[in-house]
Amino acid sequence: MSTIANSIEARDVASLVHMQTNLRLHQKEGPLVIARGEGCRVFDDSGKEYIDTVAGLWCASLGFGSERLARVAYEQMKKLGYYHLYRHRSTEPAIELAEWLLKIAPVPMARVVFQCSGSEANDTAIKLAWYYWNAVGQPQRTKIIARQMGYHGNTCAAVSLSGKPDMHAGFGLPFANFKHTEFPHYYRRHEPGETEEQFSGRMAEALERLIEAEGPDTIAAFFAEPVMGAGGGIVPPQGYFAKIQAALRKYDILFVADEVICGFARTGEMWGCQTFGIRPDMMTSAKQLSAAMQPISAVLVNARIHDAMLAQSDRYGNFAHGFTYAGHPVAAAVALEVQKIYAELDIVARAKRLGAALQAALEPLRRHPLVGDMRGVGFIHGLELMRDGATRIPFDPALKVGARVDAAAARHGLILRVIGDRIVFAPPLVMEEEEIGEVGARLGRALDEVAGELKAGAAA
Ligand SMILES: Cc1ncc(COP(=O)(O)O)c(C=O)c1O
Repeated sequence: MSTIANSIEARDVASLVHMQTNLRLHQKEGPLVIARGEGCRVFDDSGKEYIDTVAGLWCASLGFGSERLARVAYEQMKKLGYYHLYRHRSTEPAIELAEWLLKIAPVPMARVVFQCSGSEANDTAIKLAWYYWNAVGQPQRTKIIARQMGYHGNTCAAVSLSGKPDMHAGFGLPFANFKHTEFPHYYRRHEPGETEEQFSGRMAEALERLIEAEGPDTIAAFFAEPVMGAGGGIVPPQGYFAKIQAALRKYDILFVADEVICGFARTGEMWGCQTFGIRPDMMTSAKQLSAAMQPISAVLVNARIHDAMLAQSDRYGNFAHGFTYAGHPVAAAVALEVQKIYAELDIVARAKRLGAALQAALEPLRRHPLVGDMRGVGFIHGLELMRDGATRIPFDPALKVGARVDAAAARHGLILRVIGDRIVFAPPLVMEEEEIGEVGARLGRALDEVAGELKAGAAA
């Protein structure tokens, strides 16, 4: 880090708290300051260029700068820079965006509730699950089931839903009525000879066991991401969601699909629900909804939930929930323009094509000595670093292989998303085929470098 007083790095360290960052280490090492973006590339303040392979935080689907979206925001700010949706007030961009979401929803949905982030959307969906069961006379249904390694955000309830112990440590969370079932990481966790279908059956049985142990009539809802993002880019194995949904139906448990990452073509269909045959009661959406150019998120609720919300208004006189900036007209106008751009790009076909190109670019690395497994769907792929891929022996965590590959990739101009020893790719949907080839080449160089370091370390 530059130690020059008043350097941008020194000012950062003296003023900012960074999320998901070792704060002590940050004081020593300082930030990587990203100064500008162009397509799927970003440039740091020294001018060094990086290809971002995870669209920032799985969100910048249209890349890191847009004249066209800037104009839409500017025009909307001039016309109506703010209004809210409280107490019967409305705005045209919010109405139009809600209509669009209902039109493209993967299953019939009745209404849209806007918020500003994925966490808020999940938080709202949790509240709505409780609201629903109160409305229909089963207030004892308060427990929520999600999955180990699931990631649903960071508000108190959304992080309770998340199944990552590192996000709970020190905060006194998760809340007691949030339970976590097994997650479907087939490659790591299947028994020798167990097929994907058999493994999925085992996952559904584990869910049923948890439901039975907790008491089926105490469970309000089950939340899942179609493809687990921050859990490691885990694509569900064959038959997984069919079996899980059968178990939920048996006990009349609501299904909430967290489409915050998967929505808008990431899995090769418009929604992850379509890719995996999921029929949710509620669905949360954010990130690529506005290509991350504005903070906006949505919960889509089906008629069953909406009817109960109406009944609650009859009872209490008010839907007593809201956020000042929810459905912000500037964010909604930008999100609407993003949807037009998706249509022009034929985004679903494009994601399929780019996904195939990514697979082709990564394929030669499957045989790399550091790589154990690779699988993906659409334009989201996960690669697992393993000491021995065939026998599934992981690296000693002390070697920090994932972190080393991350650092080596950055030196080679590649921003990766490394989760333990997994690398997850979810690049901007505007990435071009030659840039995808460049991702494979740069990653290959980074892996070679770390393999060399490990070999030298073993020999020393
Ligand atoms: C699947 C999923 N759900 C919810 C969230 C939370 O979204 P936000 O960070 O906008 O609150 C994330 C964030 O990465 C996510 O990946």
